[in-house]
Formats: sequence, structure tokens, C-alpha cells
Amino acid sequence: MDKLRIEIIQTDITKIKSDAIVNAANSRLAGGGGVDGAIHRAAGPRLAAECMTLGGCPTGSAKITKGYNLPAKYVIHAVGPVWRGGGANEDELLKSCYKTSLILAKENKLDSIAFSNISTGIYGFPKERAAKIAVETIKGFLVENENPFKVYLVCFDDENRRIYENMM
Ligand code: AR6
Repeated sequence: MDKLRIEIIQTDITKIKSDAIVNAANSRLAGGGGVDGAIHRAAGPRLAAECMTLGGCPTGSAKITKGYNLPAKYVIHAVGPVWRGGGANEDELLKSCYKTSLILAKENKLDSIAFSNISTGIYGFPKERAAKIAVETIKGFLVENENPFKVYLVCFDDENRRIYENMM
């Protein structure tokens, strides 16, 4: 796989002009705190209105909407697992969030996708363990698929940035 296809950046994901940004949402797609709150604030109320038509989203899956006032064209709302100690299928559910988001990007013929560090904030997933799952899942997908071509790993906090940089 071409290494240039994955890039780590430390910024506010609402500023990124990629085809899609991936939100760390909840299963009701109802908006909330953290990155979800920031995305809804920046996108404007039409985002919540579209989310309300989707009937929620199961944990481990993702749904796509338009980006409205965001620089990104689309938002992929991925619902990560709440960390419950590791025995509740959390690893598989997190992997499935990344995989489903990449499949949605591919199906919509998107060139670029920017991931937030799903589940590592309010949901309490250990950051190092989550980063390993993210990187392995993304690399595996890119090896087999031409779209999306470019994946941004968007770290907001210093700890996640250091973890991702060490891993890559
Ligand atoms: N840009 C990029 N990353 C951010 C931003 C931002 N503006 N703000 C926070 N992060 P979290 P979760 C990072 O808590 O753990 C919501 O209430 C943050 O540093 O946003 O999946 C939802 O509605 C962390 O690394 O999401 C759900 O109920 C990462 O985003 C619940 O929180 C994820 O932290 C989801 O919890």
C-alpha cells in the first residue's frame, strides 16, 4: 500500500475539507458532546434534521448524511462502542465502525475521508487499543480498494496524536 494514502493530522475535524468526515455519534444519531457536538454546531440545524429521518444506527455501524455548512461534503456518523472492560465485543464493534465507514465512502465514490478517534472520548475506549484497531482496519481496506484514496486520521488531543505517530 502507498504510505501517502494515510496521513495523521492534529486539528478540529470540522475545519477539514475532505469528501467526508467521520463523526463519533450515538445510536440515536441525536447529537451530543465531544466531536459530535462540534460537528452539529458547525454544520447547522439541517444536519440534525436529516439525522432524525434515519431511524438511528446500531453500534458498530455508520450512516451517511450531507455536510451542510461544513467544508466536508458528507458526514459519516459512526456509532462506536462504550468501553465496558473489553469483554463486550468492543474490539469487533469498533473495527466494524471503521469498516462500515470505509465501505460507505467507497460506495459513494469518495476520494477522501477523515476519521475522528471514535469511542476514545466520552465512551472511554483505551486510546492505544483503539488506534491499533483503526490503523489495522484502514490499512487492510486500502490494500484491497482504490477508493477512498486518501484517509486522514484526525487527532484532537496530544495523547492520540503521539499514539498514532508512534504506530505509523
Ligand atoms: N475534532 C476532532 N476530534 C475531536 C473534536 C473535534 N472538534 N472534539 C473532540 N474530539 P468523543 P466518543 C475527539 O467523546 O468517545 C457524544 O456525546 C476527542 O478528543 O467525541 O465516541 C456522542 O453523541 C476524542 O479523541 O466521542 C456520543 O454520545 C474523540 O474525538 C458520545 O459522545 C472521540 O471523543 C461518543 O463518545
